Amino acid sequence: MSDLPSIDILDPDLDAIADAEGHVCVFLSGDGKLDKMARRVNRLTRGALERLAAGERFGKLKDGQSISLAYPSGMAAEALHVVRLERRTKGTPAREAGASLGAVLGKSGALILSPGLKGLHDVILGTLLRAYAFDAHMTGDDKHTVGDLRVMTSDAEIAERVDTLRALASGVHFTRDLVNEPSNILTTTEFANRLEALSALEINVEVLEEDDLERLGMRTLLAVGQGSESPSKVVVMEWAGGGSEKPIALIGKGVVFDTGGISLKPAAGMEDMTMDMGGAGTVAGVMQALAMRKAQANVIGIVGLVENMPDGKAQRPGDVVTSMKGDTVEVINTDAEGRLVLCDVMWYAQERFEPVAMVDLATLTGAVIIALGHENTGVFSNNDDFAKAFLNAAEAEGEGAWRLPLGPGYDKQLKSRFADMKNVGGRPAGSVTAAQFLARFVKDDTPWIHLDIAGTASIASGTTLSPKGATGWGVLALNRLIADGYEG
Ligand code: BES
Ligand code: MN
Ligand code: ZN
Repeated sequence: MSDLPSIDILDPDLDAIADAEGHVCVFLSGDGKLDKMARRVNRLTRGALERLAAGERFGKLKDGQSISLAYPSGMAAEALHVVRLERRTKGTPAREAGASLGAVLGKSGALILSPGLKGLHDVILGTLLRAYAFDAHMTGDDKHTVGDLRVMTSDAEIAERVDTLRALASGVHFTRDLVNEPSNILTTTEFANRLEALSALEINVEVLEEDDLERLGMRTLLAVGQGSESPSKVVVMEWAGGGSEKPIALIGKGVVFDTGGISLKPAAGMEDMTMDMGGAGTVAGVMQALAMRKAQANVIGIVGLVENMPDGKAQRPGDVVTSMKGDTVEVINTDAEGRLVLCDVMWYAQERFEPVAMVDLATLTGAVIIALGHENTGVFSNNDDFAKAFLNAAEAEGEGAWRLPLGPGYDKQLKSRFADMKNVGGRPAGSVTAAQFLARFVKDDTPWIHLDIAGTASIASGTTLSPKGATGWGVLALNRLIADGYEG
């Protein structure tokens, strides 16, 4: 829950470098040539940079990797962060370069020295993304404070881009905060409260309560939450930055804790199911980023917030439940609850908003982790052009995404003896049958993407751009999908 560092853009002033406190970050290209700021650092440190550039360790660095020198003599800095980065490098390596600085950024902040890097905005974004720690529940010395980021550059355009970079990073941090938050704190009610706070950014937020959901006929969603003390809710967020055209809809699975219900999960690892609201958390982060950067698009975010608990009132395996669409579902396994939440929210989104396109995000299946590990989100779609647009956006943002199939052949696995469908299709292709279940709740003319983020929303070992725990995967890709396809 770290606040974003503030960013000051400074005009080049070589004389200020010697006195800069905290980290000083300087860039060297692979040929070892020093720019004018690096030359000053080299002089202050009596040739340390030149020696470093000629050394074996530097020679082995990849573009974007760095070496840190502690307490460089001749400078007030506590560390000199030397990054190998070509002047023209943009995208992932430049973000990784920034992330290496973000990871070590302390109270005293950093001064980034960049006379003319083409990827300076990516460096700054990488720093912001990685300068994150979930320390809301740390009471002692482990609390994480980050100082200011100062950027010395002659790049006149960077100042205009800083607000957008902050919007993106704060959207990602918002998602991570929600996903990392334990379930005794992030109840459905607390989640809805945090979403209501988005109205300060001119997002129109509406909370549908259980009686509203009952009236709408969202029985499959309500059935998942009926064993919990926390009331089920659906939260609708509307960002109207575009003209009069229909919106794109983002739908999120928000299971604040998934015990499995009566089909109880084993104890080992159950604590991870605090992240089972990752889809809803990502939708929230995207909405915040769009509003903060005042995106010129109409976007609806709708999340289904429930808790899946075993209880005397909980739904049972074998129950038959009617969805808002009217289709009936035989609930074979109460642990396949995400699809029961999503199908009602997706139907509601289409009935109320007639979206031009719909994307749902969900920590839906363990099977997608078996298929793709933690490197790629599983992507499913009924529309090749839409899928391609998303895969391009994800690639441009360095967020792993891999398309998996849908197809009528898989429907056989969902056949029920008593109802229109079962909620599980057995072990083969578990992620595909989950997606195939959702596909029945997509209208023929709605371009749709389902993102199974079970493997990517939260990662025990962390990634280059995020510490361990919640990653915020998808916020940047969806922001770009909207920027490239639905704005202006
Ligand atoms: N929330 C889980 C999926 C999950 C697993 C998310 C691991 C993140 C990490 C989902 O509700 C679930 O329990 N799915 C079952 C479906 C099965 C019963 C058909 C699963 O994957 O085992
Ligand atoms: Mn489950
Ligand atoms: Zn779940």
